[in-house]
Amino acid sequence: MAQKVNGNTEGVKASLLEQIALLYDMRMNPDEFASFELLERMAEFTARLGREVSVYLGRDGRVQDVSLGDTGKVSMPTLRLVRNEDRLSGVRCIHTHPNGDARPSGVDLGTLRSARLDSMASMGVSADGKPLSLYAAYLGDMEENERAVALYGPLRPYKLPNKLLMQEIYAADARLKSSTKEVLSAKPQRAILAGLESNNGFDSMAELEELALSAGAQVVGRFTQRRREIDNATYIGSGKADELSLAASELEADLIIFDDELSAIQVRNLENATSTAVIDRTTLILDIFAARAQSREGKLQVELAQLKYSLPHLLGQGRTLSQQGAGIGTRGPGERKLEIDRRRIKRRIYELQTELEEIEKQRGLRRERREKNKVPLVALVGYTNTGKSTLLNAISGAGVLAEDKLFATLDPVVRQAELEGGTAVLFSDTVGFISKLPHDLVEAFRSTLEEVKEADLVLHVIDASSPELKAQKAVVEEVLASLGALDTPRIEVYNKTDKLPEKPVPHEGAAYISALNGMGVPELLNMVGRALGASHQRVELLIPYGKYEAMSLIRAEGKLLSEEHAEDGTKVTALLDEQTLWKLKKLLGG
Ligand code: GTP
Repeated sequence: MAQKVNGNTEGVKASLLEQIALLYDMRMNPDEFASFELLERMAEFTARLGREVSVYLGRDGRVQDVSLGDTGKVSMPTLRLVRNEDRLSGVRCIHTHPNGDARPSGVDLGTLRSARLDSMASMGVSADGKPLSLYAAYLGDMEENERAVALYGPLRPYKLPNKLLMQEIYAADARLKSSTKEVLSAKPQRAILAGLESNNGFDSMAELEELALSAGAQVVGRFTQRRREIDNATYIGSGKADELSLAASELEADLIIFDDELSAIQVRNLENATSTAVIDRTTLILDIFAARAQSREGKLQVELAQLKYSLPHLLGQGRTLSQQGAGIGTRGPGERKLEIDRRRIKRRIYELQTELEEIEKQRGLRRERREKNKVPLVALVGYTNTGKSTLLNAISGAGVLAEDKLFATLDPVVRQAELEGGTAVLFSDTVGFISKLPHDLVEAFRSTLEEVKEADLVLHVIDASSPELKAQKAVVEEVLASLGALDTPRIEVYNKTDKLPEKPVPHEGAAYISALNGMGVPELLNMVGRALGASHQRVELLIPYGKYEAMSLIRAEGKLLSEEHAEDGTKVTALLDEQTLWKLKKLLGG
């Protein structure tokens, strides 16, 4: 049965309506914005009716609606409603202007914004029913409170840069997504997780679920398949993509999260096939990091990582464009826009890098000062969510954010605490590790993690209650190795022992604690003291008056804990390393 022509059909002959309804049977190729045949027929009907003709096309190239009359007045009853702020509707509108003027009207642009159309294209039609020229409008960047419009035209209808116009839809989609990052955390999105069945015992999908929850999504379904050849176009293969599409509409999913990294093409094809937003694990992690970073440095590092991740994805599209022939006339507006995006991103990357270098310099200065004061540094490392922040709180009452969310701590937090006997120690909490941590992120946080290398002692916090304990330990050791920090003395701290049904069998070099209720923490601090004691000793000395060099040496190389003036000299309590102690003894002549 022929589909109905909507809008203002009053007074139009039934036979003509039937002909117009045949527009429903037209089908665009996936990379075709609008075929010339479609535009010609639309122009013909426009002239015959003296009214606007609008055709709404889905991303699959099918005609979803044909309407007559003003675009602003046309309701879109048959079209899918837009549910998400951060997504385009997946529908573009091509419509005609009978007066010959192709430029979009205010109403056209208003409809583009309110319906979040993929694009709003307007075509001028001559009195004798010929297509004249065409403008395509897209949602642009947010400017002040309104979204700007990116407008391309006038374009020649018989020679539309179809691929470029389609690419621009994806660019508009990306603009919408990047400026509504908060959406993930603001309201729960219904997410389906997709990935490959585990074959190495590590349940990557379970962790993806944790990540999705941390990002504030609600997981409504899981989709796994056995490992096989990765499909270049859709990652999972087109048959599976269709299954996924069915599942997405059945479960009313807003989002599909893939466990592995996807290429730009794969994301695009999967979004087309499923009509649902698709992101990969890296994008998800970067999103969580972006929401959590607190310090200026943390925020800069995350932004840098996000931009570095987006750049090759943009370049990917750029390459496809150039392959179409870089000759005159083929460099359409989409290409120019990409060029601008690329340049803007590169400039921002440069700015970020410069600012981070400055921060890094300052960190170097801080480090030097610390070296001078010789306060030992203990670095807490561990897989995400193992309880590092909770332990730091237990040790120092630091009030560091401890939450049951992945990556609650992003920025290194350094707190001073005193061990029994008065030894001052700095404890630093670092970003939690995770398997398949995006490469860009490891790079971005490398400078922060360098603190680990500088540490005198590493506390490797392990969640003793986790079924993934072994795999998590291995990931941490891998990162430590890549940082060159494997030789630093280390204590394995088995945390959350309160959750274990029975007491673990202790082994050398390990501590068993519950950071939550404080059990085992004093013993751990004793171990820390002993481990550091190897380099620093607490000594009490009497420095005879007149031995000024001895006092300066203690101040310069050690840590003066107390001094008391007595009859025959100054009684000093200090923390000294072996070499300083030896020099001091020589100075004092004993
Ligand atoms: P990241 O910031 O993601 O690296 O996490 P983290 O390692 O700093 O973990 P955090 O201290 O935020 O703790 C994670 C969760 O584990 C929180 O809900 C804590 O309350 C909980 N937790 C920490 N230590 C213990 C413990 O000893 N026992 C129990 N039962 N829960 C704990």
